[in-house]
Amino acid sequence: RQSLIIDCDPGVDDAVGLMLAFGSPELELLAITAVGGNVPVEKTARNARMLRQIAGREDVPVFMGAARPLRREPAGAGEFHGAEGLGDLTPFEPEAPCAEGHAADAIVALVMARPERSVALAVMGPLTNVALALRREPGLAERLGPVAVMGGARAEGGNITASAEFNIWADPEAAAEVLASGCDVVLFGLDATHQVRATEQRIAALEAIGTARADTSAAMMRFSQRIERKIVGWDAPPVHDPCPVAWLLKPGLFELAPCRIAVETESELTRGHTAVEFREAVAGRLPHRWATTADADGVFALIGEACA
Ligand code: BDR
Ligand code: CA
Repeated sequence: RQSLIIDCDPGVDDAVGLMLAFGSPELELLAITAVGGNVPVEKTARNARMLRQIAGREDVPVFMGAARPLRREPAGAGEFHGAEGLGDLTPFEPEAPCAEGHAADAIVALVMARPERSVALAVMGPLTNVALALRREPGLAERLGPVAVMGGARAEGGNITASAEFNIWADPEAAAEVLASGCDVVLFGLDATHQVRATEQRIAALEAIGTARADTSAAMMRFSQRIERKIVGWDAPPVHDPCPVAWLLKPGLFELAPCRIAVETESELTRGHTAVEFREAVAGRLPHRWATTADADGVFALIGEACA
């Protein structure tokens, strides 16, 4: 079983990523750490607790983390997720509280207590918590397993600006620190996640399952469908955040290219752009991996199985 910590900012697509992990017995889900991103951290932590309750997974602790990016003002993406972060889902106060302690400390403690490289991290929000954890424990980078991140914009262009994808744009300094840390970072940027679309047929298939996990996942996609139609003009919204979890479950669903990734932190215009260098002769060494393709049917099959 793969041990896993999920760092996230739920978020409608984070919610689907969490449901995928909750329903996958191949994963030992050690903790969920919440970060400020789509909505403020008090809400992302509450949403994570709501989702674990809906899924019947109160055995998984939720830790609250960074309220603000390392150096930037908190941004937010409420227009894509609703004011409370989970679309039309009415918020409720979950029964179980957050676990004690900061998310960054929880990441350090959980990873350092386990065998080297045995704990993977799936990141679905800005990289603030992960950067803080790496600052607090210099030995963490060597100890961590793969760090699978939803983030980055290259060939597909951006989604928050013309150049950048939201998670990297929201805290570019944190992303740069994580990429420079020596961790085994795999980035699932828009090149890959824009291939994973919630078509009408795929949403209807989830709705037909009839479990709380499936209904919640489908409701997230219905909300995105409405919003993306309005804002971007797309009928089938991309479902970004399940991708890193899907890769940990079934690596063959994605093609990855070795590369070296740098993040723009100086320019306002291209803030958070990911410059992806595939040429070893130029880069010297290719320490990262960039997802170039995704098998959307395969990802949705996993989501369906986990929600059944
Ligand atoms: C990413 O940004 C957030 O709004 C989504 O939850 C996802 O993590 C997509 O760019
Ligand atoms: Ca997210």
